[in-house]
Amino acid sequence: MNFHVLTLFPEMISQGGQTSILGRAIKNGCISIQPVDIRDYTENKHKKVDDYPYGGGAGMLMQAQPVYDAYLSVKEGIEAEKVRVIYLTPQGKRFDQKMAKELSKEQDLIFLCGHYEGIDERVLEEIVTDYVSVGDYVLTGGELPAMVMIDAVSRLVPGVLNNETSADFETFHNDLLEYPQYSRPEEWKEKRVPPVLLSGDHMKIAAWRKEQSILRTVQRRPDLYEKYELKQRVIERLLKKNKFLYMDMIESLRRGRGEFIYNEEGGVTVWDADADVYMLAAFEEAPAKEMVKELPYEKGMRQIIVHQEFLLRKIKERFRIEEIMPVKHAVYTQKVPLFIPKDIEIRPLGIEYLEEVTGHYHMVSEDYISEQLLGGKLAGAFVEGRLAGFAGEHKEGSLGILEVYEKYRRRGLAASLEAYMINRHLANGFTPYGDVLTDNEASLRLQEKLGLCISKDELYWVIAEERCNESHV
Ligand code: ADE
Repeated sequence: MNFHVLTLFPEMISQGGQTSILGRAIKNGCISIQPVDIRDYTENKHKKVDDYPYGGGAGMLMQAQPVYDAYLSVKEGIEAEKVRVIYLTPQGKRFDQKMAKELSKEQDLIFLCGHYEGIDERVLEEIVTDYVSVGDYVLTGGELPAMVMIDAVSRLVPGVLNNETSADFETFHNDLLEYPQYSRPEEWKEKRVPPVLLSGDHMKIAAWRKEQSILRTVQRRPDLYEKYELKQRVIERLLKKNKFLYMDMIESLRRGRGEFIYNEEGGVTVWDADADVYMLAAFEEAPAKEMVKELPYEKGMRQIIVHQEFLLRKIKERFRIEEIMPVKHAVYTQKVPLFIPKDIEIRPLGIEYLEEVTGHYHMVSEDYISEQLLGGKLAGAFVEGRLAGFAGEHKEGSLGILEVYEKYRRRGLAASLEAYMINRHLANGFTPYGDVLTDNEASLRLQEKLGLCISKDELYWVIAEERCNESHV
């Protein structure tokens, strides 16, 4: 991902991006940060870039011409027709984790940093797509806010963080703040580390951490806690009535990724922000039409998951259907990790396995596999040092992408690979689940062998596209 920063103080940007994780991400090519000196583009022979505001008033304004030409110089080097241009201003929309996630999907971002009393409105109208503030206070310029955004967005770009320190599992995981942490020594200034953390009992430790997270969120961020509570209520009151069928929605909400698009007694629609997938559950037929109408307009092919057959009829009225896949959920309901034979070597796969994995797995695109590998979401089984099969996690968090090469089949590798992924999800506090095509007998047998519960009802993965090109459908 490339960050281009239009600024009068390029050294503030180049210095800010040199150290620690950002520095490493630049070195290994995951991101680039390019400051562009607006002063280099002024047509004024004294290199002036500012002037007095018409109508009077305090201070100076940055003029339109140098800002526009600096922008054009960046834009010319970007292939995409549209690129987001973010103007940092206290008058903008408040930056948050959700916005960071959304921006991390872009290939290029241009930041425009203001100074003095601001920038001539005409150039803002011409080039800016997003007005963003980092908080309700006024800084002397946009460089620090730009760096704040670059830092928060970069760590969500696949490959920037190590596989072990995944971006998913930190402060905003589950919509709750992180629990308190302790390191050695056991006692410091007469304060002891909470005994439960020394107990070695992982279940007790997880329960304590959850309790502490809740307490901390209630005390420090009641607004976040309210959001968390609403999700818990919907899970407990509505979705748990058929928990195997709705496990994708339950887990999306529990893992802090899902947002409500529609939330009534008769039906719930969850948007999984990470995967950009909409999941619809209608508990009666009445709200079906309204629920489909409420789906936001999006160009191109998209994935929608519907949990009732009658919802399909309404979906077909609005969308042109490319494919409908009936699936069932396979859910691992126990808390204990599965046994994996010691002689089977399973470990996470990096991006260097892209060609090999795409050569053996054709259900999803190469870009999709690439993103999952960079995010550390795939693991491989090795026999005598050679990759013999793999398993992974789909974008919306279900287990899948399972393949064992022909020559290595019938020796339990598929079961071990799936068990490995299940154990990984358990360690993260998730309920592991996967989707199985209803006619895939071999997979259904494997799920049952591993002790997973299969949902009685089926749900439908729909690949579809808007029939109408208008945004007011
Ligand atoms: N420029 C000055 N203050 C700012 C703020 N709070 N957010 C973004 N840009 C700014």
